[in-house]
Amino acid sequence: MKTTKIVSITLLCSSLLLAQTQKQHDEEIKSIVKDGQIATKTLLQTLQKNMKQHIKQGGITDALSFCSNEAYALTDKVNANLKKGISAKRISAKYRNPANAPLDDEMKVLDSIQTLKSEKKKVPPYILKQIDEHTYKLYTPLVINKPVCLKCHGDIAANPALQKEISSRYPDDKAVDYKMGDLRGAVVVTIKR
Ligand code: HEC
Repeated sequence: MKTTKIVSITLLCSSLLLAQTQKQHDEEIKSIVKDGQIATKTLLQTLQKNMKQHIKQGGITDALSFCSNEAYALTDKVNANLKKGISAKRISAKYRNPANAPLDDEMKVLDSIQTLKSEKKKVPPYILKQIDEHTYKLYTPLVINKPVCLKCHGDIAANPALQKEISSRYPDDKAVDYKMGDLRGAVVVTIKR
């Protein structure tokens, strides 16, 4: 009788403890996702705001030189202002800038998103992967969602001057021939805890 009591008290305590650890874990994941989403939003808003401004000022070719010259510096600037241990970047399987080529683990995630799209299944708003005990990557799929994207990532032969500019800056450009709704890539935020 006594042993049974001790056993059940021990069991109760350990399940309470487990529930507590599970709760802490859930809270931690929530806060990681939140940090990742803030970083994603900051990067996308910064790039979009600057691009819009340049299209307005000097048209699509001016915006292209802006993207080409500044996208990286702007990304670095955004990263310098994020919380310590957090960094954001853009990746694509069909990249324009080779510096945006996905790493092997990132390519797997892009492939899995592409498969969902090809099978006409719902693409989740984000995907969280744990890399090691302290490192996570939050992926946010990027879709060609505005007609303006197609000016520089669609049928660019329609604008020979722009096409010439793109191929001189990016001789191995793969980021063309997209259509509305296509998966363009992802924002990846690495979060270290
Ligand atoms: C004015 C031309 C222009 C427009 C419009 C444009 N892009 Fe780009 N995009 C570029 C250039 C140039 C790069 C390469 C930047 C660099 O060198 O880092 C690029 C890079 C990217 C990348 C990073 C991966 C890669 O291929 O290097 C993504 C993702 C992307 N664009 C998505 C979009 C989306 C989504 C839109 C529409 C909202 C869009 N772009 C509109 C010119 C453009």
